[in-house]
Amino acid sequence: MIRVRSSKFVALPIVAIGIAACDSTPPPVGMARGEELFETCAPCHGETGAGNADIETPAIAGLPQWYLQSQLQSFQEGWRGQHADDIPGLRMRPMAVTLNREGDIESVSQYVASLDPTFPPSTLHGNAGVGAEQYRAVCVACHGEDGLGDEVLRAPPIVQIHDWYLLQELENYRSGARGAHPADTWGITMRANTVAMTDQTMQDVIAYVQTLR
Ligand code: HEC
Ligand code: HEC
Repeated sequence: MIRVRSSKFVALPIVAIGIAACDSTPPPVGMARGEELFETCAPCHGETGAGNADIETPAIAGLPQWYLQSQLQSFQEGWRGQHADDIPGLRMRPMAVTLNREGDIESVSQYVASLDPTFPPSTLHGNAGVGAEQYRAVCVACHGEDGLGDEVLRAPPIVQIHDWYLLQELENYRSGARGAHPADTWGITMRANTVAMTDQTMQDVIAYVQTLR
C-alpha cells in the first residue's frame, strides 16, 4: 500500500483506495461509499455508466445489483478476465481486485444499479427475423420475453447494453474465456447455449434482442 501511495505514476483514484485501505475500520456499506468507489470506474465506464466503445468498455448503468455483484466476484475469482485472448476482460479484472474492503462490491454495485440504463445505439446488422426464432426457442427461458432477465435463474437483462458487447461475450462463452471455470455455475449454464452457435446466429439473435427495447 505504501508503495502505491508514494508512486507518482499511479492514477489518483487508485491512490485514494490505497490510503483508505490503510485504515482498519471498514467504511459503511452503501450509496455514499459506492459513489466514492465509482470514481475509479468512471474513467473507463463513464460518469453515467454509459461505457465507451472506443476502449471496448460496456455500459453498466442500471444493471441489477445482484448481477453486478456476481460479475465483480467472478472477475475477482478469475473466472472472468483471466483468459489470454480476452483483452477487455484482462483490463477489467485488476479493477475488480481493488474492491478489496468488506462491502465494497456491494456498495459500488448498489450505486451502479441506481444509474439510469443508457440503451446505446445498435452497431451490428444481423437479421432480427431469423434471430427471433432462436431467441424464442432458447434464450427466452432465462432472459424472458422482454430480455429483462430473471434473478432466480441469475440471467441478467440484455436489452440495455451495447450490441457489440453482447457479441463479444457470446464469443467469450463459446471460446471458454467466460463460463468455463468449474466453480462458475451460472457462467457454465450460459456457456452451454453458445457452443453450437455460429457467428451469424449470434448476430441475428442480437439483432432481435435490440428490437425488445
Ligand atoms: C481500465 C478500464 C476499466 C475500469 C477502470 C473499470 N472497468 Fe469494468 N470493464 C472494463 C472492460 C474493458 C470490461 C469488459 C470486460 C469483458 O469483456 O470481460 C468491463 C466489464 C465490467 C463489468 C461486466 C459487465 C457485464 O455486463 O457483465 C462490470 C460489472 C464492471 N466492468 C464494473 C466495473 C466497476 C464497478 C469498476 C470500478 C470499480 C470498473 N468496472 C472499472 C473496463 C474497466
Ligand atoms: C438456462 C438459462 C439461460 C439461457 C437459456 C440463456 N442464458 Fe444468457 N445468461 C444466463 C446466465 C445465468 C447468465 C449470467 C452468467 C454469468 O454469470 O456469466 C447469462 C449471461 C448472458 C450474457 C452476458 C451478459 C453480460 O452483461 O455480460 C449474454 C450476452 C447472454 N446471456 C445472452 C444469451 C442469449 C443470446 C441466449 C440465447 C441464445 C441466452 N443467453 C440463453 C442464462 C441463460
